[in-house]
Amino acid sequence: MEKKTQTAANANNIYPIFDRMLSREDKEQLLGQRGVMLWFTGLSGSGKSTVAMALERELQRRGRLCRILDGDNIRTGINAGLGFSPEDRRENIRRIAEVGKLFVDTGIITLAAFVSPTEELRQMARHIIGEADFKEIFISTPLAECEKRDVKGLYARARRGEVKDFTGISAPFEQPEHPALALDTSCLSLEESVNKLLELLGLEPTQNL
Ligand code: ADX
Repeated sequence: MEKKTQTAANANNIYPIFDRMLSREDKEQLLGQRGVMLWFTGLSGSGKSTVAMALERELQRRGRLCRILDGDNIRTGINAGLGFSPEDRRENIRRIAEVGKLFVDTGIITLAAFVSPTEELRQMARHIIGEADFKEIFISTPLAECEKRDVKGLYARARRGEVKDFTGISAPFEQPEHPALALDTSCLSLEESVNKLLELLGLEPTQNL
């Protein structure tokens, strides 16, 4: 596999040096933790970022290095200029998965919070990052609740036809069939959600949030 990649790359005058750099294991030893990707998927307003931020704070408090990649942030930087057509969402997720992989390979607990509305998009992310490091977290808060919250006012605008291809209204959201964890933030407290995630990571629960 490695050799094949090398040959294909060499044909384009590219000579990767992966094998001469320090390894993921070296980084993980330095940090005293294992890299992993928690991939949060769910509707806009479902609570992906809120849960990810609460987990990040708790991990930081425990001395664990964590990085959040979040849709609204990333779309102002590396993915500025991408829209919400199926092609742009695909490129959005592809880049995030590639960037996320770099973090995971550095031993960092990486939290990606993206709508990532289709099975195909999430499969692509899983494939890029690698099955063993990819944990799918479905923030399953129902559409009616997300629409009621409407933190950014986008659902109201989408209903008026002012936002094109809005997930859940005028663009599809396919529910994950076998997520590692499903969290409905209309039923669970923030602390309960964080504790389920800590358990998934093999860590002790908290009563500190
Ligand atoms: S994704 O579908 O490509 O994964 P991403 O998570 O990056 O989406 O961005 C979603 C965020 O962009 C939403 O939380 C919302 O604030 C904003 N947004 C703007 N337009 C849309 C749209 N048409 N569909 C979904 N989200 C949108």
